[in-house]
Amino acid sequence: MTLSINLNRIIDDSYPIHIGALKTIKWDGKVAILTNPKIAGLHLHTLLSNIQAKEVYIITVADGEQYKNLQTIEFILDRMFDHRLNRKSLLVAFGGGVIGDMGGFASSLYNRGIDFIQIPTTLLSQVDASVGGKTGVNNRFGKNLIGAFHQPRAVHIDPSFLTTLPAREFGAGVAEIVKMAVTFNASFFEWLEANDLREGENLAVAISKAVETKARVVEEDEKEQGLRAALNYGHTFGHVIENETHYETYLHGESVAIGMIMANNLACEMGLMSVIEMKRVRALLERYNLPLSYEIKDVEKFYQAFFLDKKSADSSITFILPRGIGAVEITDAVDTNMVKSILRRFQK
Ligand code: GLY
Repeated sequence: MTLSINLNRIIDDSYPIHIGALKTIKWDGKVAILTNPKIAGLHLHTLLSNIQAKEVYIITVADGEQYKNLQTIEFILDRMFDHRLNRKSLLVAFGGGVIGDMGGFASSLYNRGIDFIQIPTTLLSQVDASVGGKTGVNNRFGKNLIGAFHQPRAVHIDPSFLTTLPAREFGAGVAEIVKMAVTFNASFFEWLEANDLREGENLAVAISKAVETKARVVEEDEKEQGLRAALNYGHTFGHVIENETHYETYLHGESVAIGMIMANNLACEMGLMSVIEMKRVRALLERYNLPLSYEIKDVEKFYQAFFLDKKSADSSITFILPRGIGAVEITDAVDTNMVKSILRRFQK
């Protein structure tokens, strides 16, 4: 006998992305704010004065990619149980990409899923990580390998939180902005070449342009069956770098910057990108003092780590390669020897 379950799902998971001064968040239930001690010290008072809810709890976890793991998720869930959150409760992820990814993941698990809101406080999370519902943690096999797609109810992007951002974190965020321009928008790339993001209103303009790009990609391919993989430009290489260096040497955006340089080398070798275009991308990243070199000690090990990438199939690796500036190629038709010869360029 065969029975069936017909899930004729029509779910509207649309949500607003507010860009500008933080709006008041009204919630008819309990609210838990997930944050880290640094952001709490700098900005929690601003958030608290903008929340209207029955009860508000604060959950703090250590800052840093090395804490983005299942152990911390268990800690967060325990605190959510301590506070007796229920399905009518809301979790607010208030911090950078690490907080956003873990807050989203914990809220996808708690009581089989509760609502959450993203309030990103780093440039990287404002332009990329907070939008699109990717949540999760790292494990010893690699970056973001455990997780769920769980869309937030809203994203509040307030650029004024960035005034306290350290210069390195700023650069790491710029790397994701450059990624968005190289993959999808040539005129945005030219605008970035002509305008310094540290001056005037340029940063706010760039945030809006990057978020707009990201939102359109997520609308088209929420679960990364195709187009969304393009946002992984630089990440295939970058994730291996992060994992090899135990998330201690580079910020995520920094390893993505190095990863973009590696991907560009491969794209150039395959005739997809010209040397001039490759130099233009490098110059833009250099302007924000991003690290652009990395010493690969063991090419074979580095190559094998690609197979743990979520885009990889059993025996093939999917690469995201720029086609000039403003377009992208998602391909697994890349010669293994060519990839390894590019990796060898990064040996001293
Ligand atoms: N950060 C890449 C993505 O959200 O797909």
